[in-house]
Amino acid sequence: MLVTGGAGFIGANFVHYTLRNHPEHDVCVLDALTYAGNRDNLRSVAGQIRFVEGDVCDADLVDRLVAACDVVVHFAAESHVDNSLHDAEPFVRTNILGTYTLLEAVRRHDRRLHHISTDEVFGDLPLDSPDRFTEETPYQPSSPYAASKASSDLLVRAWVRSFGVAATLSNCANNYGPYQHVEKFVPRQVTALLAGDRPKLYGTGQNVREWTHVDDHNAAVHLVLADGRLGETYLIGSGDERSNREIVELVLELMGDRGGYDHVPDRPGHDLRYANDSSKLRDELGWRPVYSDLRAGLAATIDWYRDNRWWWEPLRDRSEARYRVLGR
Ligand code: NAD
Ligand code: TYD
Repeated sequence: MLVTGGAGFIGANFVHYTLRNHPEHDVCVLDALTYAGNRDNLRSVAGQIRFVEGDVCDADLVDRLVAACDVVVHFAAESHVDNSLHDAEPFVRTNILGTYTLLEAVRRHDRRLHHISTDEVFGDLPLDSPDRFTEETPYQPSSPYAASKASSDLLVRAWVRSFGVAATLSNCANNYGPYQHVEKFVPRQVTALLAGDRPKLYGTGQNVREWTHVDDHNAAVHLVLADGRLGETYLIGSGDERSNREIVELVLELMGDRGGYDHVPDRPGHDLRYANDSSKLRDELGWRPVYSDLRAGLAATIDWYRDNRWWWEPLRDRSEARYRVLGR
């Protein structure tokens, strides 16, 4: 199994999950080790996998690695909306050209591909409505990040239809869990508090996200790999929607911190609400989130950051310096 982006947050958790639950796979990770990739994320399993440092846009390298595997799970991407608002070029390159490069190799060698994507491709939903995204919702991305992921999804769908590539896709809601980069919402607030700083809420904090534990996401990916119908898309999401303000207040409470939080300038074009209807995944493949209690999942995640300061402390200063440039 070739795992692209396997040194990032979800990819590394996928590698750990696979070794624990699907030991029949020999895992090879391809990762460019950008600012978001970290060998330490795979340190405890280094002896059990093959690691290749390289770029998913490197056609020769990708061709060789794809030829040597049976199945590819494609996580590699630039993944942070705020960064894409500052400089979209790496997003266009990795997310679009990288997916194209992989698709061509998968097509040449007739390999199985699962493409990892996000609910952000659909744009956003009104705050107070029962609506949810479905597999049929038209794409209407708001940010350069979302547009680049939408483009990559469309490439995969076209390669399925035109060339018969054996691919599936999944679009997951916001993830949380161990090894998430400190630039992202939950770890940014948790590590701020651990470092004696204050949480930072964009705008009013009314924006709503659907929080899914990374292991539940990766369990869904394995179900799709095993039993998903080729060419199909599956939406993944716990169903647990919370406003950003609720999350910050929950994190403060779980960390026993009575200090407040700061409001910082809002993100331009900030999507109001994401919510996935995951009934296709639940009905067809029997997926259920194990981390159905967000409070407990967040508490465990906070414990992980508390116990692993060595992991995040070297990353935080640089991440906060980038936020200062963005004014957030
Ligand atoms: P991440 O930024 O933590 O990790 C991305 C990984 O890809 C890093 O290890 C990085 O080094 C690697 N990478 C970047 N450019 C590369 C290149 N050119 N060649 C090879 N490797 C490269 O991201 P994440 O949060 O783990 O997200 C993984 C995937 O899941 C992405 O495709 C993202 O769109 C999707 N996704 C994320 C979320 C979320 O909440 N984080 C939700 C839904 C979907
Ligand atoms: P993020 O983790 O960047 O994920 P996404 O933008 O892909 O949903 O942010 C989650 C939400 O939290 C989003 O509405 C923006 C908001 N946010 C803050 O309020 N403060 C922060 O410091 C960050 C990083 C995000």
